[in-house]
Amino acid sequence: MICPDTDHTVTEALRKLSQSVHIASVGPDNTPFDVFIPPLKPEQLGDRAFCSEIGIRYPYLGGSMAKGISSVAMAEELGRAGMLGFFGAAGLSFAAVEEAVNRLSGADFPSGFNLIHSPQEPDLEAALSDLYIRRNVRLVEASAFLALTLPLVRYRTCGIHRSAGGAIIAPNRIIAKVSREELAEKFFSPPPEKLLRQLLDEGAITAEQAELAARIPMAQEVTAEADSGGHTDNRPAIALFPTIASLAVRMEQKFGYAVKLRVGLAGGIATPAAAAAAFAMGAAYIMTGSVNQACIESGTSDTVRRMLADTRQADVIMAPAADMFEMGVTVQVLKRGTMFPMRAAKLYDMYRSHDGLESIPAPEREKLEKTLFLAPLSDIWRDTRAFFLQRDPRQVERAERDPKHLMALVFRWYLGQAAHWAKEGATTRTMDYQVWCGPAMGAFNEWAAGSFLASPEQRRVATVARNLLFGAALLTRANILRYQNIQLPADFCIAPLEDIHIKEYLA
Ligand SMILES: Cc1cc2nc3c(=O)[nH]c(=O)nc-3n(C[C@H](O)[C@H](O)[C@H](O)COP(=O)(O)O)c2cc1C
Repeated sequence: MICPDTDHTVTEALRKLSQSVHIASVGPDNTPFDVFIPPLKPEQLGDRAFCSEIGIRYPYLGGSMAKGISSVAMAEELGRAGMLGFFGAAGLSFAAVEEAVNRLSGADFPSGFNLIHSPQEPDLEAALSDLYIRRNVRLVEASAFLALTLPLVRYRTCGIHRSAGGAIIAPNRIIAKVSREELAEKFFSPPPEKLLRQLLDEGAITAEQAELAARIPMAQEVTAEADSGGHTDNRPAIALFPTIASLAVRMEQKFGYAVKLRVGLAGGIATPAAAAAAFAMGAAYIMTGSVNQACIESGTSDTVRRMLADTRQADVIMAPAADMFEMGVTVQVLKRGTMFPMRAAKLYDMYRSHDGLESIPAPEREKLEKTLFLAPLSDIWRDTRAFFLQRDPRQVERAERDPKHLMALVFRWYLGQAAHWAKEGATTRTMDYQVWCGPAMGAFNEWAAGSFLASPEQRRVATVARNLLFGAALLTRANILRYQNIQLPADFCIAPLEDIHIKEYLA
């Protein structure tokens, strides 16, 4: 039957999430029956034990966004709102990450830091792991790992001990982000024996700690990352999540852990419907990225925020990644309003078909200098060389031996700068902006159209998060009604609400 909710009384009752709803209804054979919808508050949507273990109220995590795009301000806003934000440490200097650690440590809410696998800069990965250990950063988001590394295992096992009651306590927690089951398997397994032995030999852990470490998973929580902004395998969430969730169950049984393995979902979540779907599949928590970049607290420019507000779902495309350019790795970026994806793809084609800058035909080289680099390539190499002499002199040595590597470093200059120009809002370089973004952005814009959240200035990360959680809970309640054969009117919609109204409904 269709519920005649013309005066929206049922809709209003559903919105009061902490109150149950009872409706006396009549079935098709005229038998009366009671429809019941239990209270469902946003904090009930995910895994409550997970939230209480990490000290947050809501199962909502803001994912790391490189170069401080997920900024200190963003982690603070999410933290104060009872959620958790990861600081985007990737692509920043050690000093910049340390500064963020200084600013966030001592806060009265939890936050986390990104530890990204850096095959090009293994020393930086190790230095960050040491920094997090030294400064008691208790939660990291590990991402882009293809295999477990020593710095990561060092972080996880540091300080491991038994409590007075005999439980194994590992003070450092890793939430691993993966898009493949083979990687989830590695994180759900105990640290590799070989790496534990290495730490033992170095004296970083004791024999007893190595023995304890062999009984815990590297990560108790894995975030399954579906098609998203930035690095992505473009997996569909509804295919990926059940596979990783089922792996968690098998791995828990296989290793007989004393703790529960949990799976969260990221990728494509920027509407109440997507959030509700994630929780319906059993996500312990949801993680967002693209939509947060569009919020005022993000470390990008207002120009990018405006571009993101105009983005539709098909306005994104894969383009070569700066960090793993030579390996042909790609990232998902915005294509509307910028020529970056096309230009970066052209550079990758050239990299594949030439042995070095010298073998590029003169007219093509001139075109590159005029349109992309806006300087002679020799100048770009001079600056790149100076940069690497500071940061990683081995790159310069290799480039001076191998012209193809020199070409890669010059081309990577463009890719790296393109992200920087976007973040800084460089007015002369808008056509070269590299803006990491997934289809979630377009979905959000479509949902927010016509509401206060359509305007980039109104997009606050916690307001967006509260709306997604509130909407997910409301939609879940509406579905319970639907499963009892009562449909809400077609115009039942979950429109964005101002914080004050959400607060009233949650009271
Ligand atoms: C601008 C941007 C930068 C990102 N940088 C990182 C990063 O440095 N490390 C990381 O683990 N994930 C990174 N991500 C992924 C997000 O943390 C998150 O997992 C993802 O954006 C979720 O999918 P969505 O974009 O569909 O919301 C980035 C995403 C965006 C949009």
